[in-house]
Parts: sequence; structure tokens; C-alpha cells
Amino acid sequence: MVKNEERTGVVLRLGSNGEGIIKDENFTVFVPFVLVGEKVKYKVLKVKGNIAFGKAIEILTPAEERVRPRCHVFGKCGGCQLQHLKYKEQLKFKGKAVKDCLSKVAFIETEVPPAVKSPEEYNYRNKLQLPVREENGVVKIGFFAPNSHRIVETTDCPIQKGAFGKIVETLKKYISQSGITAYNEEKKSGKLKHLVIRFVEDCAIITLVLSDRSLPQKELIIDLFKGLFEKFSLYINVNKNDNNVILGDEFILVYGSEKYECKEMGVIYEMGPRSFMQVNDGMRSLIYKEAFAAAEIDENTVVIDAYSGAGLLTAMFAKSAKKAIGIEIVKEAVEIADKLKADNALEDKMENVCAPCEEVLPNILKREKESGAKCVLILDPPRQGVDVAVINAIKESLPDRIVYISCSPQTLSRDLGLLTGTLADLGGGSIGKNPVPETPLYDILSVKPMDMFPQTKHVETVTLLSRRKDEPRVQVTMTCKSD
Ligand SMILES: C[S@@+](CC[C@H](N)C(=O)[O-])C[C@H]1O[C@@H](n2cnc3c(N)ncnc32)[C@H](O)[C@@H]1O
Repeated sequence: MVKNEERTGVVLRLGSNGEGIIKDENFTVFVPFVLVGEKVKYKVLKVKGNIAFGKAIEILTPAEERVRPRCHVFGKCGGCQLQHLKYKEQLKFKGKAVKDCLSKVAFIETEVPPAVKSPEEYNYRNKLQLPVREENGVVKIGFFAPNSHRIVETTDCPIQKGAFGKIVETLKKYISQSGITAYNEEKKSGKLKHLVIRFVEDCAIITLVLSDRSLPQKELIIDLFKGLFEKFSLYINVNKNDNNVILGDEFILVYGSEKYECKEMGVIYEMGPRSFMQVNDGMRSLIYKEAFAAAEIDENTVVIDAYSGAGLLTAMFAKSAKKAIGIEIVKEAVEIADKLKADNALEDKMENVCAPCEEVLPNILKREKESGAKCVLILDPPRQGVDVAVINAIKESLPDRIVYISCSPQTLSRDLGLLTGTLADLGGGSIGKNPVPETPLYDILSVKPMDMFPQTKHVETVTLLSRRKDEPRVQVTMTCKSD
């Protein structure tokens, strides 16, 4: 097999990124945007050993599950990987991806249902981030192509909330009428870098990211946005850096309210331009409800919410539990959580700790267990998963229930393997199959993938673990099945 060669093959299965896997002679070929069972003509883009990467040229026998993608830049912009697959099949794919990952990474064989469907398959993203660039004298607004800073221009994005085409049109009108310069990455010049919009209930929080504090023809852009949104705020964000980070530290309010008040599961919270919020409102709500139901708390339960962000879930638990303790590393997020505590009169029931979980969780778990309280631990870590120190602290203190919310099947599998004893910390930063498997300290009661990001490869999973009470903790020697 050589680069640029055109070949045909049949797709055997989809990989974890949603790409098709074809066996062709001795090669395993990865071809995106194709489906299982399809015979495809593909062009070889790269060969490395007996692995190759290809690009589909023609689908010779389309699968029944194939649908026409709604987006006219699908496959070019890098945002979605599965728009060509029927939504019901996307849900099955995500359930299977989690199940296979648990088996492959952690040797855990458990039932995993198809992902719970999102209330909205399209138009669900409440956050829009559009780079604005000047390339060879032409202003371009769109999305970055995969692994590059080349702009793919588009007038529509079917997964976004809001009137995408009109937003782009309005911004282009403002650029041409005001003469504001767009950022040029090569020359590191130009003023306007990004447009960011947060859709919060019936309001839009608009941020123009600029290289300095001055916005030319302020009134013009306000008037143009008035034609688009009934209720909005306009901010300038100043970002003088020439790196990949979109937002700088300074926000200046130009028009509208500073913040908007929202309510979810009885908790009042404020949304501003820098608030963190999951991108799919309907699914976020379902995940919080799922976590809440799984935790089975009562007024005697202490909930420890590790990796708590801005504290919304901590506050929800604090309302019904004896106490909820949030642990979060980012100071600004903890300040928001403290405001949440005050605004919801939860001073006696909510504690926000600003520190790395690996440093403080061991003592907090120990303290709460020693108090005799029924203890539920919520884990909602970033993609890297949970630190080994956290796993060890859990194994030491044994909270009654654990609800693990994960955005990465890989690290979820690793952490569940460590918690249930199929994997072990082998030292020197290496984690592998446990040579001396223990009787598990926890039972996995359910693994529920939830479709936070329809049309994409990404999947969120809520897993419920319950401490084993009945069986003594005995070491068993087991012959591990070979890899
Ligand atoms: C997936 S978010 C969870 C957000 C939150 N549970 C929610 O529902 O909005 C993960 C959070 O973990 C925080 N984080 C990352 N590493 C951490 C650490 N070592 N200790 C504590 N928090 C950490 C991040 O700042 C982020 O807010």
C-alpha cells in the first residue's frame, strides 16, 4: 500500500473516534465518515508500518443507517464526526464504545445500554465561538479545520443554537461598515479575533474578543445586534496574547445587563460571559437529575462533590442532604460557588473548598466517615480522570456510594478498574492488569452513557458504584485471561 493509491475495502467496524476501520491485505486502514458494512473507494493519505489512513472518495454500497448530513461543511470543519449516521445508531455506537472501552482498558465486562438521547439532536449548543481572521486581505469567519488554524467558512452550523447565518452576516456588516481590522495570525496584527456568544434562556451574552480595549463604532454594532436579539449583553474581552487561548482576563461591559439570573432544580444562579456551563442545556439537566437520583441521598447524607466547578450540582445536593462539600481547583469557580451558597441561603449546608482534590479529599473523606455520616462521593473530573491519590483515598475511606460523571470513556475505564480491583498501580506511573485481583470493594450498579454532544464522537457517562457490605475483604489469586 502506498500514499495516494486508490483502493476499495469494506468497513468492518467503527473506531472510538467514529472512523471506519478497514482490513486491506496486511493493513489496518482508518477512514473517517464511512459506516459499518459499506464498500468504499478510498485514497491512501499516509502509511505507517501496517497502519494506514485514508479518505473516502466514493461510497460504493451505502449502509441503511446512512443519512444525508445537514451541514454543508460536514467533514471539513472538524466539529462533528457522526452526522452521516442515523441518530438512533449514534446512540448505539456510543453505548458500545463505552462497553468496549471498559472491556479493553479495564477488563470489566458489564451491560452498557445505548446512550440516553439528547432532548435536541440539533441546535443544542448554547455556546458559539467563531474565529475571525484576515487571510490574504480577505476577512474569514467560520470554524478551524481539524488540527489547523485554517478557517472553514460557513453560513450555517446545525448543532448551534441561534440564527447562525444571520449572526455571521451581522458581524460581516459591522466589519465592513466600521473598518475594524480582523486578526492576522501570521503577522500577529489586527484587532478583532473572535466572536463568542452564550445563549442563556432568552438572552444572548455576546463577547467580542479584541487585541485592545477600544471598539470602533460601538453604536453601530449595538444597533445591528438589536435587529437580531430581543435581549442581549455586549462585552469586549481584551486578549493581547498570540496563542491558542480564546479569552483574555479583562471583560468590559458595553451594553445590557452584567449578568442574568437562572434557576435549575430549585437553585438560583447567575450567568455571565465567563461562567462555565455544559454546552447542552437539556442534557445537562438530565445528567444532574440522573446523578441526583443515583446518589439516593436523604437529610442524613453528606455529599462530597469532587471537581465541583462553579458549584451548581453541589448546591442542588446541599438543598436536600445534611451537607454538601464542593472541591474545586479554580479560584474564580469557587468564588461563584460561594455566591451561589449565599444567594440560596445554604451557608449551613454548603462548603466550598478551593484546592486540588488529590491534596484535600483524603482528609475530608476520613473526617466525614469518622463522623458516622452516610457518605456519597460525586466525581466529575476533567478528561484526565481522577488522580491515583484520590483512588487510594476512596479505597481507604470507602464512601457508601460513588457517582462518577465522566467525559472520557478511557479514563473512566482506568479509574473504574482501579476502584474495582481489575487494574493496579504497578508503580513508576504505570497502571496495568492487577496481578493479584482483590474481591471488589465496589459493585458497578449501572453505567449510563448520556448524549451531551449529538452528531459528534463525544460521550458523557454516569456510573453508579455501591460499596460491598456483605462480603469480607479477601485476597483471591486469579489467573488473568491473557490479553
Ligand atoms: C468536568 S468539570 C466539572 C464541573 C462541574 N461538576 C459542573 O457540573 O459544572 C471538571 C472541573 O474540575 C476542576 N479540576 C481540574 N483538576 C482538578 C483538581 N486536581 N482538583 C480539583 N478540581 C479540579 C476543573 O477546574 C473543572 O471545574
